[in-house]
Amino acid sequence: MMAGRIPQHFIDDLLARTDVVDVIDSLLPLKKKGANYSACCPFHNEKTPSFTVSQDKQFYHCFGCGASGSAISFLMEYSHLDFVESIEELASRAGVEVIREQGFEPSQPKRDLAPLTKMNEQAAGFYQQQLRQHAQASMASDYLKKRGLTGEVAKVYQLGFAPPGWDNLLSSLGQNEESLSELRELGLVVTNENNKTYDRFRERIMFPIRNKRGQTIGFGGRVFDQGEPKYLNSPETPLYHKGREVYGLYEALKATNKIQHLIVVEGYLDVISLYQQGITNVVAALGTAITREHVDLLFRSVSELVICMDGDSAGQKAAWRAVINAMPALRSGRQIKVLLLDQGQDPDSVIREQGAEHFEQLIERSSPLSSYFFDYLAKQHALENIEGRASFAEQAKPLLNTLPAGAFSELMKKQLSHITQIGRQERGASARPRFGSSQASRRSAKKSPSVMRHLMTILLHEPQLAEKIAADESWLAIDVPGMALLKNILDILHEEVAVSPAMLLERFRGSEYEKTINMLFAEEKLIASELSEQEFLGAIERLKEQARKSRYDELSSRASTLTDEEKKEFKELLK
Ligand code: CTP
Ligand code: MN
Repeated sequence: MMAGRIPQHFIDDLLARTDVVDVIDSLLPLKKKGANYSACCPFHNEKTPSFTVSQDKQFYHCFGCGASGSAISFLMEYSHLDFVESIEELASRAGVEVIREQGFEPSQPKRDLAPLTKMNEQAAGFYQQQLRQHAQASMASDYLKKRGLTGEVAKVYQLGFAPPGWDNLLSSLGQNEESLSELRELGLVVTNENNKTYDRFRERIMFPIRNKRGQTIGFGGRVFDQGEPKYLNSPETPLYHKGREVYGLYEALKATNKIQHLIVVEGYLDVISLYQQGITNVVAALGTAITREHVDLLFRSVSELVICMDGDSAGQKAAWRAVINAMPALRSGRQIKVLLLDQGQDPDSVIREQGAEHFEQLIERSSPLSSYFFDYLAKQHALENIEGRASFAEQAKPLLNTLPAGAFSELMKKQLSHITQIGRQERGASARPRFGSSQASRRSAKKSPSVMRHLMTILLHEPQLAEKIAADESWLAIDVPGMALLKNILDILHEEVAVSPAMLLERFRGSEYEKTINMLFAEEKLIASELSEQEFLGAIERLKEQARKSRYDELSSRASTLTDEEKKEFKELLK
């Protein structure tokens, strides 16, 4: 039976019982520094510590890379756990049982997939054994040797051999109806319209595909030398979804404790060949475009991806698509780079011909997303004329809009207007005075997002300040960016007492505001509490002032049609 949701109050309680300092310190030793604790940041390379943990606020923040979050986020990022696993870990540290919401009965009980996984593992074992023992195994081992692969690396990836013949696997593992139906469901055997059942993979090198946890979920099978199709893969099965899984992640994570980045390549053989030469942080998509789901999966393990596709036009297109699909996932602290190989090269050929050191240098020098993005588009539009710049901007804008809000997105948009010079003209035009709006109100209107942002940032860090704002204050009705989120935060804080910043952060996980909240949290430099109250009250005053100004503007713009009441209000405002 599928478990119900973990209730919010349980997460709140768990965070209240947990000390983020203990949790982090157990994995990454911290030093006390003033009111806070610090260490060298585990999420980027640095020599002097800028990673800070606040016991009061129950969250961490890195001034260097902007990583921040609660004890839950730390476990997710540092220990590569998913959300539920992190909760389970904290619960076991606190000695409590995770509770689940009652009354959650899935319409279909979730199926136990263990027997299928086990069958896949038996099949992988079978193919591996055939590579060692089958009378014709030399056709496979010779091929691997010819490709320069050692027995050692073949073992790491559990490479195998599907011998020639129609029923090798079938007769070995499909003895009864039950196992036969499992083999069929896994796509390892096929039953045709004449009711003949036979092995799907014949006369191929077998590549077991494992998920992040090391379970064998499917297979790819390559012909020796020439032949069609070059690769045959498992069909979509209850275990195998090629749009969601990547090849080599388990092996990559196993090889290194603290992986900094992952290189994403096209082929199984690229992965294995790089691994053999000591570059073990490599994964491949499974013969499909790299999807958002792939990217999310990878960003749960590392904060930087290097996309390295083959140096042909298909590879270049695949790289662009990967980048486009990844952009919405690029919240602060995450990075994508692109390595374009020369025409006709793939990672396997580069490393075999020029060595691991050369390949590492190429990775070092790969282009950051920002330059790759604009270079790629610049190749497709004639930037010398307005028409070309316009189409450049039209293609770029919607793509840049998929980036999560934040400094990176803003700088990319600035760069776009710089390149196309469209933004500069627009800004010039809007700087001309408009009718009916005073200089002052325009200035304050422009300032509103940052005042609002500042206010929310302080509030997130010092939730108790919510008591300074009553729920029905009239300035809360003005229409400025961020107001909806501010009201959301206030609702939570007015309703409950003793909400820590970490709890607040967790409340917004998965909501439409998650990205903004994370950004606001990351923005603040853990300012001293005594100062923040003054700043907070100051920000409220500015917003109130703004509310008065916009009301004044509104009333004065229709001065001749005011009701008596409005006239009175107008006079008040004039003071
Ligand atoms: N692929 C596939 N089906 C094919 C061809 C390719 O699923 N018919 C997928 C495989 O995952 C393969 C990847 O696309 O690994 C890249 O293809 P390719 O570059 O042709 O394969 P390589 O693994 O690089 O193999 P080789 O080095 O032998 O060319
Ligand atoms: Mn290839």
